[in-house]
Amino acid sequence: MHWTPDRTAPSVGRVVITKTRSPIRSSVGLKVVMAVTGILLVLFLIAHMLGNLKIFTGAEAFNHYAHWLRDLGTPLLAPGWYLWIQRTVLLVAVLAHIGAATVLALRARAARPVRYAHRKKVQGSYAARTMRWGGVIILLFVIYHILDLTTGTLNPVGDATRPHSNVVADFAPERWYVTLFYTLAVVSLGFHLRHGTFSALRSLGQQTPAGERRARTFALVFAVVLTAGYLVVPFAVLTGLVR
Ligand code: HEM
Repeated sequence: MHWTPDRTAPSVGRVVITKTRSPIRSSVGLKVVMAVTGILLVLFLIAHMLGNLKIFTGAEAFNHYAHWLRDLGTPLLAPGWYLWIQRTVLLVAVLAHIGAATVLALRARAARPVRYAHRKKVQGSYAARTMRWGGVIILLFVIYHILDLTTGTLNPVGDATRPHSNVVADFAPERWYVTLFYTLAVVSLGFHLRHGTFSALRSLGQQTPAGERRARTFALVFAVVLTAGYLVVPFAVLTGLVR
């Protein structure tokens, strides 16, 4: 619970009666927003990675999968509606995740108005220290990625009916810099996921030393599996395994 001083509130001696902020705006509430939206985004990442791996089952199966995604939920929903619902949920989750992170970071800074002249020792893991810039790289990557493989604007083929051809054209050996950029983004995502998963598990109760160790190991394995699961596709195209 976060308490704020209320100058208009009646006071007795030096004791000021305070009123509460809404739970969602308290720091604990904001951390819950970060965890819940983070879990939604992770669920999407797992599903998207599994979908991408279908590329190893051949062009026809991969294209069929992409078309099936558009028909998901029919006849209850009109074709394409499921995707738009998913896009709306993901957009709201990303905005809430970034909004909560920004407010928490500003509060942490306000709680220490005088900046340290120099840091004695760098605190926390590499992943923990790169959350902010990692988040910015991932955001820029997602914008590029949507223009590349969803709208096709930046893709050499850019045909929405042939996602397999779009992916193969994207990571062709002569476009090695695209694979390099994807690699940087996915590795940043891996670090972000490792720290995010660890923090979420700790918030969910893994607070004893043994629990923290378990959370740390799980977060590392999970981040490595997701990073590898994503990177295997561009590298399979780059090396000619998928063509
Ligand atoms: C590195 C390997 C990746 C490959 C090969 C890949 C492939 C694709 C393809 C083919 C599409 C278009 C799907 C379609 O329109 O049928 C797509 C869409 C998308 N991808 Fe990826 N992706 C990768 C990584 C990622 C990562 C790391 C993220 C998130 C951080 C991501 C987020 C998205 C989003 C948000 C969409 C748009 C979905 C929509 O149309 O609503 N992708 N991806």
